[in-house]
Amino acid sequence: MDVYKIALIPGDGVGPEVIDEGVKVLEKIAEMDGGFRFEFTRFPWGCEFYSETGKMMDEDGMEQLSEFDAIYLGAVGFPGVPDHISLWDLLLKIRKGFDQYINLRPIKLLNGAPCPLTEKPDIDMLVIRENSEGEYAGAGDWLFKDKPEEVVLQTGVFSRKGTERVIRYAYEEARAAGKTLTSISKGNALNYSMVFWDQVFEEVGKEYPDVKTASYLVDAASMFFVLDPTRFEIVVTSNLFGDILTDLGAALTGGLGLAAGANINPEKSYPSMFEPIHGSAPDIAGKELANPLAALWSASQMLDFFGQEDWGKRLLNTIEDLMVENKVLTPDMKGQATTKEVGDQVVEMLTAKVV
Ligand SMILES: NC(=O)c1ccc[n+]([C@@H]2O[C@H](COP(=O)([O-])OP(=O)(O)OC[C@H]3O[C@@H](n4cnc5c(N)ncnc54)[C@H](O)[C@@H]3O)[C@@H](O)[C@H]2O)c1
Repeated sequence: MDVYKIALIPGDGVGPEVIDEGVKVLEKIAEMDGGFRFEFTRFPWGCEFYSETGKMMDEDGMEQLSEFDAIYLGAVGFPGVPDHISLWDLLLKIRKGFDQYINLRPIKLLNGAPCPLTEKPDIDMLVIRENSEGEYAGAGDWLFKDKPEEVVLQTGVFSRKGTERVIRYAYEEARAAGKTLTSISKGNALNYSMVFWDQVFEEVGKEYPDVKTASYLVDAASMFFVLDPTRFEIVVTSNLFGDILTDLGAALTGGLGLAAGANINPEKSYPSMFEPIHGSAPDIAGKELANPLAALWSASQMLDFFGQEDWGKRLLNTIEDLMVENKVLTPDMKGQATTKEVGDQVVEMLTAKVV
């Protein structure tokens, strides 16, 4: 029997609430399949841990995590701990330390999902976001602090290796799926980094003459995300642009309670990490109001990653059925159910579907 060793980092706020539901569903799936099982290990890292120890994770945290097949993360950040500390000392530390340079964010309008557009278009894109450098490289300087001549520099870092590998991954994905590939950049204003990005997109594209491509400036792309989202299939973009565009995409396809993301190290030299893209939602934490569907969608991405695509698809279909049924949903989806009730209902529907 295959055993998948999963490190759980439920984190802060609603993180533990939604991860509990994900674990419940994954355990049920493994039980129904019978051919694999999960071994979960829970880590207490996050802002509470920081308040007690002055650190977001154990000193040898990365070493501990390296033993696992994947990481399942809830959310990190809470009032009282500066956001740049919680982000850089846990989440970004893992993404960078484990070279999870591909961030996969599906922007798909499932049946039954709320959509603010009057005509519900058939939105189905996969945004591939560069996840290891770019605008989030953490490079820069803070000169003459608190002086009148104060200057801050935030440097975007686009290496050939980093740019080529994400663009190549996107071409491969587009070729395998038989879909179009759109690059989103900003070469007119960012005259070094994005001119380079566009050049690499073109260069790598020569190896993929069968893939139909398009290139947009990020401002135009933002407009088309809203006015004509069906023109996008596979999208590749930089760290910052991907971060912003996928929140816009999430807003169009059901809100933050439904949006999932996978941080992938394609070579599998290190564990990959699966997480809902929402934060710790301190405004609703501890009230059983959090929507666990984003965490469940990221569990479905994890199943795909392990080669259990049938289960990944079945879980996603169940999320869709649940929303179409429109009975057991959390308040962000205009329902009245609790986080746990939604998790229980997904388990029940999964079980009922198995012949
Ligand atoms: N990946 C992460 O861990 C991550 C991502 C974003 C923000 N954060 C951190 O989270 C904290 C709060 O940030 P924020 O308020 O900007 O973003 P947020 O995503 O936590 O919340 C934004 C809004 O969406 C709602 N929301 C979020 N998740 C929800 C869910 N599952 N169900 C229902 N409603 C949900 C919240 O109630 C809130 O109104 C900050 O400390 C921030 O740094 C962490």
